[in-house]
Amino acid sequence: MACETKIWLVLHFLLLAACCMQHCVHGVSQVPCLFIFGDSLSDTGNNNNLSTSAKPIYHPYGIEHPHGPTGRFSDGYTTIDIIAQLLEFENPIPPFANLSGSDILKGVNYASGSAGIREETGKQLGNNIPLGLQLKNHRIIISQIATKLGGLTQAMQYLNKCLYYVNIGSNDYMNNYFQPQYYSTSRNYTPEQYAEVLVKHLSQYIQDLHGIGARKFALYGVGYVGCSPNSIATRGTNGSCIKQENLDALIFSHKLRDLVDQNNNQYHDSKYIFINSTAIKINSSLGFTVIHAPCCPMRSDGMCIPGSKPCSNRKEYAFYDGFHPTFALNSITASIIYNSTVSPGVTYPINVQQLAQLVIS
Ligand SMILES: *[C@@H]1O[C@H](CO)[C@@H](O)[C@H](O)[C@H]1NC(C)=O
Ligand SMILES: *[C@@H]1O[C@H](CO)[C@@H](O)[C@H](O)[C@H]1NC(C)=O
Ligand SMILES: *[C@@H]1O[C@H](CO)[C@@H](O)[C@H](O)[C@H]1NC(C)=O
Ligand SMILES: *[C@@H]1O[C@H](CO)[C@@H](O)[C@H](O)[C@H]1NC(C)=O
Ligand SMILES: *[C@@H]1O[C@H](CO)[C@@H](O)[C@H](O)[C@H]1NC(C)=O
Ligand SMILES: *[C@@H]1O[C@H](CO)[C@@H](O)[C@H](O)[C@H]1NC(C)=O
Repeated sequence: MACETKIWLVLHFLLLAACCMQHCVHGVSQVPCLFIFGDSLSDTGNNNNLSTSAKPIYHPYGIEHPHGPTGRFSDGYTTIDIIAQLLEFENPIPPFANLSGSDILKGVNYASGSAGIREETGKQLGNNIPLGLQLKNHRIIISQIATKLGGLTQAMQYLNKCLYYVNIGSNDYMNNYFQPQYYSTSRNYTPEQYAEVLVKHLSQYIQDLHGIGARKFALYGVGYVGCSPNSIATRGTNGSCIKQENLDALIFSHKLRDLVDQNNNQYHDSKYIFINSTAIKINSSLGFTVIHAPCCPMRSDGMCIPGSKPCSNRKEYAFYDGFHPTFALNSITASIIYNSTVSPGVTYPINVQQLAQLVIS
């Protein structure tokens, strides 16, 4: 079947039918380009050559990936890899750190494990690429695109059509606010103030991106950070989620959602969607039987122990290591984000597919 030759992803259950419906018909992606900003949930290798312990280029990472450990913090593809596939990109969006042989006109992935909105976030683990630096890297790419297309005006017209995916903020909690032994933020800010400061900074970065051609934004809220296996193991009691951590991070998500509403009302030349990751209920009806324990044996920092043997029933685990979802959960998350029609209180567009196909004049 012609479809199979084009699949760069081993698809899970429901996604398979969708692939054939779409890929067999035509080979053009739904948006010409996709730019990705974020943390380890989206990183596909940007940390590989940095001095940091947040660098998954060893077994058992990538055990479900055709190229093994690539720098993805999972057993297989990331959520945005799968979304890119659903948007009919022929290849994953390449990491900024390794663009050799890639077409930058299709997009670049700037995401970096352990990074946050704040510059200091995650640095107790080593080096990373915070959001501000990810934007600087994007400016480098824009100048290269301008050269390719014959000028900055042409580049801007082209960039207007791209999708910008931003999933960042988890580390500003898990690798900053919740680590008072390394960071003073929890002493300097109440949870309300901290969320306010984070969203204010993020809002500025979004505005900067708008200034350099971005028009279609998918902004991701922070999930249940107090339910990660690492949070439970290091700061939890009796193996249950840390309710206060979830509540603190939820303030951020609500403010981010307000920002999305505000921008949609204020700017008529751009569109924003809010992705509510806490709306996805992970339970046995989706096939997950182990929700709060990692599939691989964890190091004390929550990463997999190098060379360790992961669980074999990976489709039943929500988490691969102490922080990061399995390929199985990423697949479900991606398909929901891609074309879910359920999003309480949100008006059109509500999903990535609608955002991609939207014509903005
Ligand atoms: C999208 O939605 C349609 C209709 O609800 C569904 O049949 C399909 O499986 C969904 N997923 C994809 C990836 O298109
Ligand atoms: C990684 O960085 C070092 C030092 O900057 C450099 O010598 C090396 O070539 C880099 N390796 C890759 C694969 O980029
Ligand atoms: C860079 O990308 C190429 C092609 O995808 C891959 O073969 C190579 O291993 C990558 N290098 C690094 C340092 O990740
Ligand atoms: C944890 O378990 C112990 C013993 O079962 C119980 O006394 C305690 O109240 C529990 N703590 C929480 C926070 O649930
Ligand atoms: C996300 O969805 C959940 C469940 O529908 C809802 O309770 C929550 O308020 C939503 N979060 C935001 C920020 O809208
Ligand atoms: C799982 O979640 C779905 C959607 O929220 C819900 O309808 C279903 O009842 C839940 N199933 C179990 C076993 O908790």
